[in-house]
Amino acid sequence: MNDDKPVNMCACLNKSFAALKELGSMDAAREAGAGIECCGCLPYLEIVFETGETEFAIDDPRIEEDDFSDT
Ligand code: FES
Repeated sequence: MNDDKPVNMCACLNKSFAALKELGSMDAAREAGAGIECCGCLPYLEIVFETGETEFAIDDPRIEEDDFSDT
């Protein structure tokens, strides 16, 4: 794990972003349960499926506070 990029999993599912990426799409990740319990992983998963990255800084500048809203 990269210490500068500690965000690397859906904590509610206890599944890594790398494992969720293997599912192939955001829809498949959501069907597996990502974003059901909270929406904290969803902004990161959007970037996972856009870029293939699977580890992020907590304050990744691509993510805005509003992105954590589930509305
Ligand atoms: S962190 Fe993914 S649903 Fe809570």
